[in-house]
Amino acid sequence: MLKGKTIVLGVSGGIAAYKAAAICSKLKQSGAEVYVIMTESATKFIAPLTFQTLSRHDVIVDTFDEKDASVVSHIDLADRADLFVVAPATANIIAKMAHGLADDMLSTTLLATTAPVLVAPAMNVHMYEHPAVIANMKLLGDRGVLFVEPGTGQLACGYVGKGRLEEPERIVEAIERYFAEKQLLHGKKVLVTAGGTVERIDPVRYLTNDSSGKMGFAIAEAARIMGADVTLVVGKASAYIPPGIRTVRVQSAEDMLDAVMERFGDTDIVIKAAAVADYRPAETATQKIKKKDEAMTIQLVKNKDILQTLGQHKTTQFIVGFAAETENIDEHALDKLQRKNCDLLVANDVSQEGAGFGYDTNIVRIYDGNGLVEALPIMTKQEVARRLLLQVAERIKKGD
Ligand code: CTP
Repeated sequence: MLKGKTIVLGVSGGIAAYKAAAICSKLKQSGAEVYVIMTESATKFIAPLTFQTLSRHDVIVDTFDEKDASVVSHIDLADRADLFVVAPATANIIAKMAHGLADDMLSTTLLATTAPVLVAPAMNVHMYEHPAVIANMKLLGDRGVLFVEPGTGQLACGYVGKGRLEEPERIVEAIERYFAEKQLLHGKKVLVTAGGTVERIDPVRYLTNDSSGKMGFAIAEAARIMGADVTLVVGKASAYIPPGIRTVRVQSAEDMLDAVMERFGDTDIVIKAAAVADYRPAETATQKIKKKDEAMTIQLVKNKDILQTLGQHKTTQFIVGFAAETENIDEHALDKLQRKNCDLLVANDVSQEGAGFGYDTNIVRIYDGNGLVEALPIMTKQEVARRLLLQVAERIKKGD
């Protein structure tokens, strides 16, 4: 499955470093070319010779140990990787990756690579739950780094909890899955809207909503991982916009409509995860409104429904809508899907804990014209994005 793929395997210094030997071996068996970089601490747990023998390549620990004068090894390896895997990843290497430190061969090569990175953390349960580690992993996740979560069980330090490196078989499966899904949306132009819109009252005041942009950003990132050419149209968002994705910033629903319509003809898939304001102030004051009377009324007028407009104009485009609901989800979702002429509709019950605005997780139900396709349990927005795009890819393939 991995024939022709070059994988750089970074091994950092935790007790699980010995398990990286099995990962290296299985990757080789699956046909990959594997180059191993170890941290100094990793060599205290397992000898470089083990990896050298399994990978049939020199193992690099020291940035200055340049064996081949024709190349600079950290740049050469960084450029050569189709995928960079860090397993096990200690709290230390995760922190270095999050903050751009480069003080040894592994961290320097990680900083120099433009290849996708998959991280399999392993550490003590309290370290794994430390706010600093959580924040660092979140930063990396928002930047598009993939994670294979650690398992729960007996840890080498004596504690029972989450932090045990996922089994080598599972890590290799995740790597194989990455390569299998990488081409699913190859050559497809995907337009994703994310965040909330801003409807101006005057130069210093506006109406908006709580959308963080996380769901749309996760979709944009997942679409890119699947090989798509992605454009993000973003309103107001508090989450970190994934770097390296073509981004168009907008404010109001009207701006968003213009930005989307301008690109619609040249788009294969539109995913409307943005929380668009249904109404805007009838007038936007050009100067700050002064306070006068005890009460004040702002008249609102209806915004054009972007999704519905796309539905009316669609020719070959595949359209995915979203619906935020608090009751009668199935009924409302199917009504929106039909009314707005969508191919798929993702509904979330925003009244549920862990779903909707601001959360890192979501609980969604996906519908097509025939009804419910998938009811997903609570999962990260990244995983929801992946599952949604698998549905899109399957349908696009059938239609090709
Ligand atoms: N949407 C849109 N333009 C609008 C309002 C909504 O494109 N002016 C899109 C959203 O991006 C989302 C979908 O419509 O993909 C559903 O949004 P939602 O707020 O759940 O639905 P509404 O159509 O506004 O319906 P209601 O407020 O009645 O629930």
